[in-house]
Amino acid sequence: MENQVSQQFVVEGGRRLNGELHIKAAKNAVLPIIAASILSSEDIIIQNVPDLLDIRNMLVIMQSLGCKAEFKNGNIYLNCRDAKASLVTADLTRALRSSIFMLGPILSRFGEVELGLPGGCAIGKRPIDIHIDGLRALGVKVEEKECSIVCKKRKSIEGEFRLKFPSVGATENLIMAGVLSNGTTIIYNAAKEPEVVDLSNFINALGGRITGAGTNTVVIKGVKKLYGAIYSPSADRIAAPTYLAAGAITRGCVTMRGISCATIGSCLNAFEAIGCSIICGRDFVTLKLNRRPKTISKLITTPHPGFPTDMQPQIGAILSLAKGTSIITETIFENRFRYALELQKFGALTNVATQSTEICGVKQLKPAEVVAEDLRGGAALTIAALATNGKSIIKDIHHIDRGYEKFEEGLRSLGASIVRI
Ligand code: EPZ
Repeated sequence: MENQVSQQFVVEGGRRLNGELHIKAAKNAVLPIIAASILSSEDIIIQNVPDLLDIRNMLVIMQSLGCKAEFKNGNIYLNCRDAKASLVTADLTRALRSSIFMLGPILSRFGEVELGLPGGCAIGKRPIDIHIDGLRALGVKVEEKECSIVCKKRKSIEGEFRLKFPSVGATENLIMAGVLSNGTTIIYNAAKEPEVVDLSNFINALGGRITGAGTNTVVIKGVKKLYGAIYSPSADRIAAPTYLAAGAITRGCVTMRGISCATIGSCLNAFEAIGCSIICGRDFVTLKLNRRPKTISKLITTPHPGFPTDMQPQIGAILSLAKGTSIITETIFENRFRYALELQKFGALTNVATQSTEICGVKQLKPAEVVAEDLRGGAALTIAALATNGKSIIKDIHHIDRGYEKFEEGLRSLGASIVRI
């Protein structure tokens, strides 16, 4: 597992961002797609992939299972012909929560798997009860051990299951579990996130027969075998609005290429509520803000197609400069306001409760030294630093490297003064 010595960003605030960036494939689409590749024994190429820590770690897990998995000039080359079901060890899964995605595809192909428990993270304890209940409902025997789970399919994986909450990961795991089977799997109250649609399109490109992805009912007709494919996942619907937020907070004008307004609609509604003007092209989005942000009286994160929890910290950073008071309510994760406490070091007036935070905007943020504690919170702190009138330091930026490829280079190409030390 690659681990990063804790590096820092040094940001010289006060510069307006202008320019454009090309957005690559979505981290949260690529991760389950890599896992799903173990369902096939033929060559798979995944294109336009950002070089991220989480993706590198996922490839290490695939190699530990006997797959050929390499990352070469923006593409991932996979072949899982020689894969075998073996223990995905706890140290591998602790380094990467997304290793939970290995459950479904390994079970589907090999019928059994032992997986180290992924464990929680800064934004929440991240339980996997929905994954386990779903697998049991589809005919899998699941034994929970001290720090791993052992799964074994009884006969063919098939049946019906209603999720108690539209969990993205659980939906994806259960879809993958039902692919190589003699029967049909139906998932009710499924997550509708675009990453679920991307995974379903990928598996269908390999020869799968999945319908309904993107709705709350997904039907997986089992097939005997999958083939190879060359697949280009959708653009990252969280990375793009993160850079748009950097444009907004510095009152600049930025364009994201390779993404459409439709993909990030709920984020654009929030940006427009703040006073940004948005231009939509066939495959680009331009955002401009040339005045102080307006407040959003109530912003609530909900499952897709609602406002995405992964953009909540970034919008919170902009609202810390709004003229008035905004209230953000987080309904997906139980601990996603750590950034709002760190924002106080920049002079932001945030009042953090458990599931919501009240932000009273100030006219100017001042430079500070802050610590990134999770991926999106770290991005939000970096964005806030761009709006201060001096030099700030963001520590523990390895969290940011998990989800943004060379974040400082992207921001610098838009005119920001930011270096990694
Ligand atoms: C995915 O996580 C994303 N990660 C998250 O992005 C994203 O925030 C989340 O979906 C919601 O959209 C990847 O796709 C790799 P969930 P996931 O299962 O699948 C509870 C980022 O910043 N839950 O939809 O783990 C859970 O505790 C990351 O890129 C259970 O209770 O999210 C949480 O409160 C952060 N039991 C809620 O559901 C379960 O078995 C949503 O979790 C599973 C989940």
